[in-house]
Amino acid sequence: MRTFTVLGLETSCDETAAGIVRGRAPGPGEILSNVVLSQLQEHAAFGGVVPEIAARAHVEALDSIVEAALAEAGISGDRLDAVAATAGPGLIGGVMVGLTTAKALALAWDKPLIAVNHLEAHALTARLTNGIAFPYLLLLISGGHCQLLAVEAVGKFHLLGTTIDDAVGEAFDKAAKLLGLPYPGGPNIEALAKAGDPRAFALPRPMVGREGADFSFSGLKTAVRQIVRRPDFADGARADMAASFQAAVIDSLLDRVGSAMSMFRTLFGDRGEPTLVVAGGVAANAAIRAALGKLAEAQGFRTAIPPPPLCTDNAAMIAWAGVERVELGLFDSLAAEPRARWPLSMPTDMASATPLTS
Ligand code: KG4
Ligand code: ZN
Repeated sequence: MRTFTVLGLETSCDETAAGIVRGRAPGPGEILSNVVLSQLQEHAAFGGVVPEIAARAHVEALDSIVEAALAEAGISGDRLDAVAATAGPGLIGGVMVGLTTAKALALAWDKPLIAVNHLEAHALTARLTNGIAFPYLLLLISGGHCQLLAVEAVGKFHLLGTTIDDAVGEAFDKAAKLLGLPYPGGPNIEALAKAGDPRAFALPRPMVGREGADFSFSGLKTAVRQIVRRPDFADGARADMAASFQAAVIDSLLDRVGSAMSMFRTLFGDRGEPTLVVAGGVAANAAIRAALGKLAEAQGFRTAIPPPPLCTDNAAMIAWAGVERVELGLFDSLAAEPRARWPLSMPTDMASATPLTS
């Protein structure tokens, strides 16, 4: 059967990445290369990503990253079916670098351009890795986003819940900062939590028991701040705090996902075995993966969570979104514009929801 080969570029945050993927819907696809250069050192001293520094670093690195991705895949530009790049949402300077580079390559090689929504790329990664069929329930948890969506098709999403303040990755990063841990905070909190007692501090469980599937994490962050700023907060209690914080996040996620599972069933009925897909950088967290897996099992959902390097930002996921779009003929013109904000979907009105498919 005809497959499609696409080069993908990712520059929306602090990873400069290029990768080549071959396949067709519904996947799985074959990753021919996935070169990711993390700018961690450039931003470390600032405790977060500095947009201007990120954009400059993308400019400096992207050419050689693209060459490396082509070389590793053993492929030349003329054998590609399309060139894809993140066109948003993200830090606009970086997005401009990647999208403009993709336009130049598409023009030089005479290939179609695909302007990829970074969130759609996270959302479709489980098809690249596991060949998951539509529809599925998606928990998208990253540094900038925290959403529950029903994914019905490429480009067709139903927003079931979103954060009303911080994204969960952002909460991890802020809690880490309060505990004196370097950026990015998620992996550092996870590592420290292993040595701590999750019951040591009684932290709030935001939104638990509330109707709907929205999230909130700023109250949790404030609670952490109040405790660690107390004069009697000992250095030795940091692991306990990391564990308590992670446990509170997990309880909140489980409640919200449980609620979204009911919404998903309202939308799509109860045929077959529905699937919970988890994507985004926070899905790299082993404790969160395990807890969600257990919940899904109890609720009759299968789980598909890509391996950690494909949960955090990478180029293979952009290339795969390109593969799915090429197959459907969803190309973009060279006038495609970079977008700092680009939501996948407006909220779904559950009150008037009827099953979408029979
Ligand atoms: O998807 P991603 O790489 O970039 C965005 O599009 O935001 O996600 C990065 C976020 C950061 O907030 C980082 O702290 C978090 O994902 N993260 C984690 C873990 N690994 C990365 N959070 C919790 N546990 C982890 N192991
Ligand atoms: Zn991301």
